[in-house]
Amino acid sequence: MNYKILVINGPNLNLLGQREKEIYGTATLEEINKDLKVMALEKGIDIEFFQSNHEGALIDKIHSARGDADYLLINAAAYTHYSIAIYDALKAVKIPFIEVHLSNVDAREPFRQNSLLSPIAAGKICGLGGLSYKMALLAACEILLGENEEQDAR
Ligand code: DQA
Repeated sequence: MNYKILVINGPNLNLLGQREKEIYGTATLEEINKDLKVMALEKGIDIEFFQSNHEGALIDKIHSARGDADYLLINAAAYTHYSIAIYDALKAVKIPFIEVHLSNVDAREPFRQNSLLSPIAAGKICGLGGLSYKMALLAACEILLGENEEQDAR
């Protein structure tokens, strides 16, 4: 059975490529996802993408990932900074996740420097534009496949 990674994007990320290009770059979310799909396929890992502008929809998706996805990459966008509900959902499902941001949130406004999700994330990658997602995917694949090799060796 293949491992599966679910990539979750929060509000306003559907506007990538049009939105504040000097901060978020010119690539669309579709273009970023296309690259991730190629990378995942090369590693033999299944990948699914989900974007929503609604907190409840993001929470429902996190819940439904239980028993379905082995790892999450999540850019919760503005919700990162204040959604206790998304924090609770991630804690509840206990699926390991990497927090992703296109911009360097730690170098921006003070309200972006606080993440509710970082303390429960496996790791965080930010500031590299679309490359942040690729680096996070690479890490998640290595972690999953590395675990698999350990299991095979046992
Ligand atoms: C973001 C950073 C957030 O502060 C912001 O609200 C976003 C995008 C990023 O990817 O850089 O919408 O998560």
